[in-house]
Amino acid sequence: MPETKKRIGILISGRGSNMLALADAVRDGRIPDADIALVISNVADAAGLTKAAARGIAIITLDHRGKTHEQHDQAMAAALREARVDVVCLAGYMRLLSPWFTNEFKGRVLNIHPSLLPAFPGLHGARDALSYGVKFTGCTVHLVDEHLDHGPILKQAVVPVFSNDTEDSLSARILVEEHRIYAEAVAMLLHSDWRIEGRSFK
Ligand code: GAR
Repeated sequence: MPETKKRIGILISGRGSNMLALADAVRDGRIPDADIALVISNVADAAGLTKAAARGIAIITLDHRGKTHEQHDQAMAAALREARVDVVCLAGYMRLLSPWFTNEFKGRVLNIHPSLLPAFPGLHGARDALSYGVKFTGCTVHLVDEHLDHGPILKQAVVPVFSNDTEDSLSARILVEEHRIYAEAVAMLLHSDWRIEGRSFK
């Protein structure tokens, strides 16, 4: 029998709240006809790994240290292929993927980032928005290409910045929206008719 459910692979490096939000969305049917096939962490003691295992999700650690960038990405690709994933979701995976990897999974890798890209790419989206003094920021789900926080955008959500915000309070408000739009974007990628014109999803 051909597989009918779409298989989602998730890469993490840390606490894994977006990973859990995707698992919740699969469980609740907001991402229909899908399974979380595998969670890979490049950090052995990432809190997200324990949380995934507690849900019965298959987990592996692939330490990037002592390998070239491409060797590490090839090891991840082999595990993702073995798990027969249809889409790869970066969920707080704090390493740039090699051009080899993004080409291998072209059009099938998504990232969530805590800013309204192209503003404030990099490691500190909320902190950078706060320092810049913007009144609104948010989060972005985009297809991953070989550049940092860069590919075509599937979904964005706007979050207000308040005058008494700290990095923590702003990040927490953004995170609520991250969890919502990531599930919507994955459902859209897996189950809608879409095409890309230039940088735009249609
Ligand atoms: C999230 O806020 C995600 O947007 C961000 O890391 C956090 C991971 O949290 N990603 C980036 O900044 C990527 N450039 P989580 O582990 O709880 O999902």
